[in-house]
Amino acid sequence: MIEIGVLASGGGSNFESLAKACRDGRVPGARMRVLVTNKPAVGALTRAVRLGVEALVIEPKDFDDRNAYYERVAAELRARDVKVVCLAGFLLKVEPGLLRAFPGRVLNIHPALLPKFGGKGMFGPHVHEAVLAAGETESGCTVHVVDDHFDHGPTLAQAKVPVFAGDTPETLAARVLIEEHRLYPETLAQFVAQETL
Ligand code: GRF
Repeated sequence: MIEIGVLASGGGSNFESLAKACRDGRVPGARMRVLVTNKPAVGALTRAVRLGVEALVIEPKDFDDRNAYYERVAAELRARDVKVVCLAGFLLKVEPGLLRAFPGRVLNIHPALLPKFGGKGMFGPHVHEAVLAAGETESGCTVHVVDDHFDHGPTLAQAKVPVFAGDTPETLAARVLIEEHRLYPETLAQFVAQETL
């Protein structure tokens, strides 16, 4: 079995879609091994309990610097034999401490069609506000390999949705999120099947 780890900061709906896909055999050969959050009392933790997935809260405030933080996160993941790390609404910038431990094996999902509407500050509702402000007629989501720049690194897959007149950031986010829940597990399945892990 290829062990999967997820890093999340919030509600965790993408974590749940990945965990269920692993459980239901839609990511053949993979198992959801552990969730790591950077904050206590986030929705993702409740979902982990319900799904029977081990969850760890590892908070940056307990470490001298961000790299030491990521070295601990990486050590916890490696101790569980995790081979692929999926960021799912994880709002801290990833540092070399994690990337060195999992070179080319940290994936992220972003709720826009990168390279548009990515980068610093482009998270949560800000992304969808920017898409609407730019008058785009389509948006979507992107799964990519993470490197040391925000929302950068090779794209693995994208899914598109239309933007409708009268959309709000909330209605657009909801339409994109449906695609996220389909695209991330499908892309993870392809990644796991192709990579020599
Ligand atoms: C998603 O829109 C994802 O694309 C972005 O953060 C959001 C996380 O949502 N990176 P959830 O916590 O998975 O519900």
